[in-house]
Amino acid sequence: MFKTVATTPYDDQKPGTSGLRKKVPVFQQANYVENFIQSVFDSLEGFKGETLVIGGDGRYYNREVVQIALKMAAANGFGRVLVGQGGILSTPAASNVIRKYKAFGGLVLSASHNPGGPTEDFGIKYNIGNGGPAPEKITEAIFARSKTIKQYVIAEAADIDIDTIGKRDIAGMTVEIIDPVADYAALMEELFDFDAIRDLIRSGFTLRFDSMHAVTGPYGKEILERRLGAKEGTCVNFVPLPDFGGHHPDPNLVYAKDLYDLMMSADGPDFGAASDGDGDRNLIIGKGIFITPSDSLAMLAANAHLAPGYKAGLKGIARSMPTSGAADRVAEKLKIGMYETPTGWKFFGNLLDAGMATICGEESAGTGSNHVREKDGLWAVLLWLNILAVRRVSAMQVAREHWATYGRNYYSRHDYEGVDSDAANRLIDDLRGKLPTLPGTSVQGLTIATADDFAYHDPVDKSVSDHQGIRVLFEGGSRVVFRLSGTGTSGATIRVYVERYEPDPKRHDLETQGALADLIRAAEDIAGIKAHTGRDKPSVIT
Ligand code: G1P
Ligand code: ZN
Repeated sequence: MFKTVATTPYDDQKPGTSGLRKKVPVFQQANYVENFIQSVFDSLEGFKGETLVIGGDGRYYNREVVQIALKMAAANGFGRVLVGQGGILSTPAASNVIRKYKAFGGLVLSASHNPGGPTEDFGIKYNIGNGGPAPEKITEAIFARSKTIKQYVIAEAADIDIDTIGKRDIAGMTVEIIDPVADYAALMEELFDFDAIRDLIRSGFTLRFDSMHAVTGPYGKEILERRLGAKEGTCVNFVPLPDFGGHHPDPNLVYAKDLYDLMMSADGPDFGAASDGDGDRNLIIGKGIFITPSDSLAMLAANAHLAPGYKAGLKGIARSMPTSGAADRVAEKLKIGMYETPTGWKFFGNLLDAGMATICGEESAGTGSNHVREKDGLWAVLLWLNILAVRRVSAMQVAREHWATYGRNYYSRHDYEGVDSDAANRLIDDLRGKLPTLPGTSVQGLTIATADDFAYHDPVDKSVSDHQGIRVLFEGGSRVVFRLSGTGTSGATIRVYVERYEPDPKRHDLETQGALADLIRAAEDIAGIKAHTGRDKPSVIT
């Protein structure tokens, strides 16, 4: 019933910021998927007879990998696997299912916001029993194992029906095909005041939710249109497609430009939002105003007590280092903890588990809370709607009042994609070498106060993560941050994060790139991006 298959290692199965991500043809190499999944299982202990959750964002190759994973889970001794119908589970929904059913862990099949299709991206991520991405200790063990693996075990069984809800069996292991939306929708109903949101919508408030042909389509339809009464047509691009309709399912101002244009138009809806390939990111645009993810985190934190799930207040806020300091000011006012972590959701897990942080966020359109252990796109949309439903003001007013109270953090990220890896590494190495000489010098009329290579000391497990991005802080609170992406699948992506703090409300109406112009020039002077890469402008500005 089970067979042991001899295999040889691949040397490139190192999980990145968020699991193993590669082009589909890489995953299609002989035993590539099997090697990685076996390396995951070999790095875990004590799962015999336990439950595993499997689901993905529906992209190309999702269904094939679900079948392989099921057969390998059976051969490795799991007792039960819960699979989202059709192999679908948004990343936050997978996190919720793992927690709710006390699973041992889960395999989340996704390459998030990266494009999908036969020559595009695929990914496999292992999440632990708290519902969150495996910490570095485990991902390092998986990588180490993948470099020495000699065999894997798999059930010799036919593919099973993953499209019909119900219980079945594969080589003696129970497989339950579950509704991917039901548990998640129930959780949202617990956290938010659906009656208040329904009233708001009934009063004529209009919205649009763009699923970008990715996984949140069915979630948006059920929650926004069926449960909250938004009119049909509120959800657009809601049919998940294996290639996301040929688009890039990344909800930013470049790839969700249609939504942005609509929201800036005179007859646009009151509120617009989008989510990414696997449903963990969010884009929030009020009528006439784009809310940066860093601002959204701060505004949600400042108003979260208006939603039933957070009425007791927040324990603390956590943000990734490159995320703007807007949320820090909220934490200061609320007199709660503020934690600055490296990029990647996995660093929030310990803080959430320890009850030190309630809300977390990243500048890359990720916001979430202790309700699951992943960022959650639709959650952010619903919290915004709950706040607007209680306050009965526009998103624009929420933002303006927030800035008037706390000051405004102008913020932008400049990405240089598909850069030669050696050139990108040299740029970072050169910067690192220069760090000690930078403080006290001035660039573009700005004086550098401090400069360092960010290292994180986890306050819960005391682990240390080095080299998490180069920070250059200027006098007055502005800063630029440089780091290399850990999620790309070809070449390197250099990310430059630029931030200026502006306390004066009379200066809260500036155009963002203009407000940051001197800092953008300073970043170029400090890092020599053009000299290193030949690029004189970023490929994507968000
Ligand atoms: C990017 C984002 C990061 C996010 C990750 C997964 O990682 O910058 O905030 O957690 O995707 O969605 P990066 O490519 O920068 O390593
Ligand atoms: Zn994602």
